[in-house]
Amino acid sequence: MHSWDKTLIGTSKCFLQATGMIPLLSVAKSTVLISGETGTGKELFARAIHYTGERRGKPFVPVNCAALPDHLIENELFGHSKGAFTGALNEKSGLFQEANGGTLFLDEINSLNLTVQSKLLRVLQDQEFRPLGSTKSQRVDVKIVAATNTDLRCLVESRQFREDLFYRLNILSVLLPSLRDRKEDILLLTTHFLRIYAKEFGRGPITLAPSSKAKLMGYPWPGNVRELEGVVQRAVVMAAGDVLEAHDFDLPDNKQPEPVGPTMALLSRGQITDECSFQKMKTRVIEEFERTYLCELLSAHQGNISQAARAAKKERRAFQRLLHKHGLDRRVFFAA
Ligand SMILES: Nc1ncnc2c1ncn2[C@@H]1O[C@H](COP(=O)(O)OP(=O)(O)OP(=O)(O)O)[C@@H](O)[C@H]1O
Ligand SMILES: [Mg+2]
Repeated sequence: MHSWDKTLIGTSKCFLQATGMIPLLSVAKSTVLISGETGTGKELFARAIHYTGERRGKPFVPVNCAALPDHLIENELFGHSKGAFTGALNEKSGLFQEANGGTLFLDEINSLNLTVQSKLLRVLQDQEFRPLGSTKSQRVDVKIVAATNTDLRCLVESRQFREDLFYRLNILSVLLPSLRDRKEDILLLTTHFLRIYAKEFGRGPITLAPSSKAKLMGYPWPGNVRELEGVVQRAVVMAAGDVLEAHDFDLPDNKQPEPVGPTMALLSRGQITDECSFQKMKTRVIEEFERTYLCELLSAHQGNISQAARAAKKERRAFQRLLHKHGLDRRVFFAA
């Protein structure tokens, strides 16, 4: 059995809001739904929930619902009895039995077909299920943590996802922020991965030149933390020097006319719903602008507050108050 040996890195407000929920999510009996773009750390988060709680001594069983073909998934989840279908020579237990006492992590739950969705709903309601071809129900004590990288509400609207299952899953839910929404964590994560991969590849300490910091901060990271980890790993393998320059980081061309400014970014992400009043949206856009601006500026001035405040034409104390408001620690931006 694997133990928990990973750290969730991040100090941004939105990330800490999510990680702050882990103790509560780990003791709660209800299902937990983790949403977030690809690579935002959903599986890592699910493991953190499992290994923080009392189930940590029992199995954590991950299953990628998208990777299993429709005709196999029921068998995988619930198992079968002897003779259930041609070729079922022996009884086989499913992942629900395997996870008994522990946690079943249903990754990419959005891709479950409607038949399995209704079976799953029954398990969630009764904590019991019937293996394929069996007449007897089995009871299990399994905590379900599910993850999705698409908005399940939209799938409910288009009738691809059962509404009743959605409500059942969504009792406790957490949305993991994209890396774009927590830019201040980019350099922290980079340093973290630099340390890990320098060690793995038998290299001494590797640091970042200011030019590479600006490049990493300016990239939109559509693949989020997973993409960042890959880029850092590649840089560690390929770069000869111990101070990584901008050209050591191989990033796709970032010159496409980005949706200019935070307003367009919010609009293009389709985040405007009926619940978003003008005032709420305005506040969000301003907050996003402030955070991005402060991060870029601190990065350019390597965490030097006096210089950054001067460049912003703001009084030093007012500038510091702004940093405080966004939970930004200038040390993150020091030249490594
Ligand atoms: N906050 C974090 N701190 C440290 N490492 C992280 C963090 N978030 C993600 N990672 C690392 O990034 C990689 C991707 O994370 P993970 O597999 O949990 O993402 P995911 O949301 O499940 O992605 P996908 O949607 O593509 O399945 C992993 O190697 C994970 O260890
Ligand atoms: Mg995943």
